[in-house]
Amino acid sequence: MQRIVYVNGEWLPESEAKVSVFDRGFLFADAVYEVTAVIGGKLIDYAGHAARLKRSLGELGIASPVDADQLLDIHRQIVARNNLGEGLIYLQISRGPADRDFTFPKNPAPTIVLFTQPKAVLANPKVETGISVVTLPDQRWARRDIKTVQLLYPSMAKMEAMRQNADDAWLVEDGFITEASSANAHIVTAEGKLITRSLTSAILHGITRASVLDLARGAGVPVEERAFTLEEARQAAEAFITSASSFVMPVTRIDGEPVGNGKPGPVTQRLRASYIENRLAGAI
Ligand code: PDD
Repeated sequence: MQRIVYVNGEWLPESEAKVSVFDRGFLFADAVYEVTAVIGGKLIDYAGHAARLKRSLGELGIASPVDADQLLDIHRQIVARNNLGEGLIYLQISRGPADRDFTFPKNPAPTIVLFTQPKAVLANPKVETGISVVTLPDQRWARRDIKTVQLLYPSMAKMEAMRQNADDAWLVEDGFITEASSANAHIVTAEGKLITRSLTSAILHGITRASVLDLARGAGVPVEERAFTLEEARQAAEAFITSASSFVMPVTRIDGEPVGNGKPGPVTQRLRASYIENRLAGAI
């Protein structure tokens, strides 16, 4: 069954959807994106994703081709048109087509594309065992706070992790963990303190991260937002990642060594349960 995708105001079967070869998203990775989870046909943490999209576009000076109401309407329609119960909505906005030149075009016509990906987000078998990560140098550009489609290095890191029989990579810069290839990285100390990197241009400002930190604080879990070292991660009682596609996912091995007792930790499990309960209740 073909998906119905959204391209520049049109709803089309995926095989008929087309973007110009001159699109700057294609030629220069001059584009931003968002991934929003859908559970029970409803959007999870939508307001956060819409706000970050606006910020990413603003940082690059790309004018949004749709306003806030249209954006929500397109998200709702794509769920309905594809009968999406559980999965992800991928959205991309590029600066649009222009003759190839490093300078930005004078009168850009941004390209907007959305498609759905059905996926069992809740019933992920990895939740029971946790995932394994290997550490790799962070070789991405320095504006990781903008959610651009420059995903070659994260892709390479993921491939290298899989080559090493791991599930994902944690990226390291100057001895400190930045984040995972496509998720934020967190640890819990033996004293039960949640440590997570603070919001700078070194990491993407995760929407799931923000919600989980709110819930942690509300539940009395002490939270420290600061960079942590690889050594601290190795010594941690628990570790986990957060993202729209994994919610809260335990990390139980780092570079082949168990984290804590090698099983998903209690703080991680509580935060996952409370994230799911709270965000499902707030889904739109
Ligand atoms: N990735 N850090 C990076 C580098 C990411 O790519 C992502 C999300 C996150 C988590 O952000 P959020 O909680 O807002 O999803 C952190 C998406 C899911 C992706 O590329 O598929």
